Amino acid sequence: MKILLTGATGYIGRRLQRRLLQEKGVKLRLFVREPEAAETFKKNEVEVVQGDTFKRDTLKKALKGIDVAYYLIHSMDSKQGDYADLDRKSAENFRDECIAAGVKRIVYLGGLGVKESSSRHLKSRIETGEILSMYPDAIQTLWFRAGIIIGSGGASFEIIRNLVQKLPVMVTPKWVRTLTEPVAVGDVLEYLIKGKDLKCRGNLVVDIGAGKMSFRDMLLQGGSEFGLRRFIVPVPFFSPGLSSYWLILMTPVPFGIASALVEGLKYETVKQNDAAQQYFPGVRPLSYKESIRIAIDEVEKNDVVSRWCDSSNGVCYYEDRQAPSGAVFRDVRKVALGEATTEDMFHVLMSIGGKGGWFRYGFLWKLRGLADKLAGGAGLNRGRRIDGELRTGDSVDFWKVVDIEENRRLLLLAEMKLPGRAWLEFVIADGSLVQTAHFIPKGLGGRLYWYLLLPFHIPVFRNMAHQLVRKATRR
Ligand SMILES: NC(=O)c1ccc[n+]([C@@H]2O[C@H](COP(=O)([O-])OP(=O)(O)OC[C@H]3O[C@@H](n4cnc5c(N)ncnc54)[C@H](OP(=O)(O)O)[C@@H]3O)[C@@H](O)[C@H]2O)c1
Repeated sequence: MKILLTGATGYIGRRLQRRLLQEKGVKLRLFVREPEAAETFKKNEVEVVQGDTFKRDTLKKALKGIDVAYYLIHSMDSKQGDYADLDRKSAENFRDECIAAGVKRIVYLGGLGVKESSSRHLKSRIETGEILSMYPDAIQTLWFRAGIIIGSGGASFEIIRNLVQKLPVMVTPKWVRTLTEPVAVGDVLEYLIKGKDLKCRGNLVVDIGAGKMSFRDMLLQGGSEFGLRRFIVPVPFFSPGLSSYWLILMTPVPFGIASALVEGLKYETVKQNDAAQQYFPGVRPLSYKESIRIAIDEVEKNDVVSRWCDSSNGVCYYEDRQAPSGAVFRDVRKVALGEATTEDMFHVLMSIGGKGGWFRYGFLWKLRGLADKLAGGAGLNRGRRIDGELRTGDSVDFWKVVDIEENRRLLLLAEMKLPGRAWLEFVIADGSLVQTAHFIPKGLGGRLYWYLLLPFHIPVFRNMAHQLVRKATRR
């Protein structure tokens, strides 16, 4: 069976690739916007096609000879226009090219909900499913619909984890009582995998979930899995805007995701059919508590396969690797490695940020992160996927890893709100660590920004370069 996996750099897609590679008789092709960001878990067995659903010629190439095509794409974080319009166009292009290529089945994962009473984001997910399944005579569509997906690194798990760990008493909006239906990410993958082989005629909508519960109960039961007793006080005056701001301050998610979640919580998102039981009796969804336990376990074992902030969202890794050479401003620090080896130094670079922090001026980084969050940026509290290892495309606090050359270079792109573009580059060469902050300002504001922050940047960057080498020496 020849399979095309789209969204392969995303939260679900990265995990599904791993699972598909365990299946016998599968030939896998990934459709990605940025091949650099696509992790191929078995290099020789996976074909990678670069493309974009808005470029139909790339879809044509990717869909040639394909039997089953997974559609795991959404445009919510796109900067290219209104996401609902983009989602519609993307789905239409994909469906039409699948039909033209003679693909037998599309497998799509969308969200639970009823169109008439759904948030804008969920409406768009429903519309995508409707578009994909519009011509059942020409192509079959298996449309899975999931509510809150629980898994390590997932946005919902990170929100629950941060809220219950930071707040013994939570004053919440009253719609925390709205019913939803969580499901473990492992179960979602199981349905998606089985979906490619299911023998059935025509289109099918399969609602999946492990039973109804309110977000309030999810927080309380989640807390108890962390060994924490929590208290929730719903109040009527919490506006959606205030709730979203509260979420971005307390959790790693940015405003777009927080407000989509808050809006979504106003409406019930529960199963509308029992197709999961009927067609996939072999999948017994884990309980909510079990799914939380597995996610905690994976975090503790440093075994997080994907995170909610993995997708590249318009970062062009190739361009970004070259771009710092055109920087207008630079802060360069060169520190001799002394007794530290190149390997020690590289190992320390691979552990930068996250729980390890940003050395002596950590509080300044935290302040910058807070300001960034309030401005709608990534902020500092995204942390890292796992300790000690980085891959291209990983998020580290408010940075994105855009280049790694083993024992030589690490390049981070700033994803914070800035009047310009900024990179932090580390090069190990000739027995030294060369650390460079590059900045391409946008207009006068960008130049002012650089000079205003200079008094902070000088000690921060000087200390960072020295501390990194000291840490490598201690190894
Ligand atoms: N995660 C959840 O909790 C959850 C819950 C319920 C339902 N779902 C559904 O599951 C599906 C996958 O979600 P996810 O969380 O894995 O999403 P995600 O992590 O945000 O990933 C989105 C993927 O779409 C790709 N993409 C976006 N626009 C594209 C385009 N024009 N051409 C090609 N690729 C494009 C992105 O590629 P880049 O890396 O290049 O940006 C990325 O790989 C979605 O339909 C979502 O609604 C997810």
